[in-house]
Amino acid sequence: MSSDFINYAGGAFSRRVINGDDTLLSVNDFKSEIKLHGEMYYQQNLPLMLWFFCANPPLQDGETTVCDGRQFFNEISSSTKDLFSKKKLKFTVRISQEDWQKKYQTDDLNQLEEMCRKNNTHLTVNDDQSILLEYICPAIIPSRCGKYQVFINSLLPTKQLSPKILNFEDDSEIPEEVVSELNEIAEKITTEISWQKSDILMIDNTRILHGRRSFADDQRDIYIRLCSPAFSF
Ligand SMILES: [Fe+2]
Repeated sequence: MSSDFINYAGGAFSRRVINGDDTLLSVNDFKSEIKLHGEMYYQQNLPLMLWFFCANPPLQDGETTVCDGRQFFNEISSSTKDLFSKKKLKFTVRISQEDWQKKYQTDDLNQLEEMCRKNNTHLTVNDDQSILLEYICPAIIPSRCGKYQVFINSLLPTKQLSPKILNFEDDSEIPEEVVSELNEIAEKITTEISWQKSDILMIDNTRILHGRRSFADDQRDIYIRLCSPAFSF
């Protein structure tokens, strides 16, 4: 079903490697809600397909959430569509030397530069070897067939967890009303998936957004693999 399993270099969360295979990761870094998003839409090289596997379900709550990015686009007001068609999103991240070496799984600056170039990410290296990364991308993309518009990006969890790192490309702020509008739409069109042991879930990461509800117990253990489809798509 899939090919090109990738590791999580450049990923936003810390993830536990399963069975020593760095393309098989547990997603439970923390327990709070994660709002709907496309996986790794804060960088250019992103997986087209995701697999989730329920190694162990939570005792309660902790549902995975999904929604259709095409439906999301259709629900957005025309003023907000207009805003996103005029202004792209810009992620600006400062990272210490120790942290970028961990995140990008290398301590070689040349290798980091190469990764950033391939990811269309602007890199500035400071005197203390800390770095500044800037990445610009649209909030709305065409569907694979080219006929539709799809709202898929990392806007909602970034505004939820690290609001300062996301603005428009001209450095203007994304208005609070716009973020509220998007959160309301997300809640309205969300489908919840209640896990049972050994369930698997395949996600088309070019169109379907995913997230999760918060949970409180230590039971929930969900694995993820990032990959490409091994069939025409
Ligand atoms: Fe995710």
